[in-house]
Amino acid sequence: MKKILVTGGLGYIGSHTVVALQQAGYEVLIIDDCSNADKDFLDRITSITSIRPQYFSIDLKDQLKTNQFFENNPVDGVIHFAAYKAVGESVEKPLMYYRNNLMGLINLLEAMNENKVDHVIFSSSCTVYGQADQMPIDEQTPLKKPESPYGKTKQMGEEILEDYASTYQKNVICLRYFNPVGAHPSSKIGELPKGIPNNLVPYVTQTAAGIRECLSVWGDDYPTRDGTAIRDYIDVNDLADAHVKAITRLMEQKNKTNLEFFNLGTGTGSTVLEVVNAFEKANNLSVNYKIQPRRAGDIVEAFADNSFAKKELNWQPTISLEESLRNSWNWEQNLGQEK
Ligand code: UD1
Repeated sequence: MKKILVTGGLGYIGSHTVVALQQAGYEVLIIDDCSNADKDFLDRITSITSIRPQYFSIDLKDQLKTNQFFENNPVDGVIHFAAYKAVGESVEKPLMYYRNNLMGLINLLEAMNENKVDHVIFSSSCTVYGQADQMPIDEQTPLKKPESPYGKTKQMGEEILEDYASTYQKNVICLRYFNPVGAHPSSKIGELPKGIPNNLVPYVTQTAAGIRECLSVWGDDYPTRDGTAIRDYIDVNDLADAHVKAITRLMEQKNKTNLEFFNLGTGTGSTVLEVVNAFEKANNLSVNYKIQPRRAGDIVEAFADNSFAKKELNWQPTISLEESLRNSWNWEQNLGQEK
């Protein structure tokens, strides 16, 4: 059984990926410092798969502990999610973001290199494209300087990995996610936003649950079909499946080059109002919303050309937006009942 280390394995995309890896027959070890995750996700994962992953409470900024982990736990590959991800917070605390996201990555890569672990998947984002000049966005689309320090840490992370892959002959896959949504169909794991959500779907589910009074729709004067901004909402279980396929590609040495990039999106853009309508229809309820001015830093539209991932990873999104939004709502209701 191949052993995969998942850093940030108790987080939103990480936990879904741990489940998918276990179900695909991998042994999973998790490193998470729980700075933005709950340790009870270990129990939640176990209740889905009946396999308890080994868990290590390590902050990757701690170089010594990170090295010791690799010395004591031989693994075949790494999927690296552990990072801060709040755009607004990164604008207020850029150094905290650079320290955490970049130092964590560098310590991880050094420890991997010293312990001869040759395969890594990096959690990147479509934010590296900024407002692209053409839609859909494929992997050849020129990168633009991201607006936020968070986005810059993703772009810098990719650059660090480029040098790492070529200098040390390592195999790297960067997965650029569009907008992750949804939850596990069991409702046992899902997104756990701390405080007021910034992202659209958690705000919608919290508004439907009565935790928030009213959803603000940021801008209806964009040059789009209904004036609201367009994004490509990709289900988190489909994302998890792409990670399994990407690490398997490396394990089976099927990668074409030692540094590969894949866009992970559905290929279809939805406006904010289309998401709200799809949520209402999927769950047979209505969401209180109000049009507000545009949010600073937002782009007009972003949706993926996912044909490279389809061809090379043999991956395909399978979950419709409505189904994702049903799962998100079930997860939100489940959380409410647990409180
Ligand atoms: C944001 C980040 C992106 C990150 C991604 C992770 C920014 C500028 N970008 O993407 O770097 O990788 O999250 O999930 O923050 N909206 C509303 N009302 C709300 C919340 C959002 O109308 O209460 C709108 C936004 O204006 C946007 C769309 O919904 O048009 C999606 O927003 P969001 O979920 O925050 O994702 P992004 O901004 O696309």
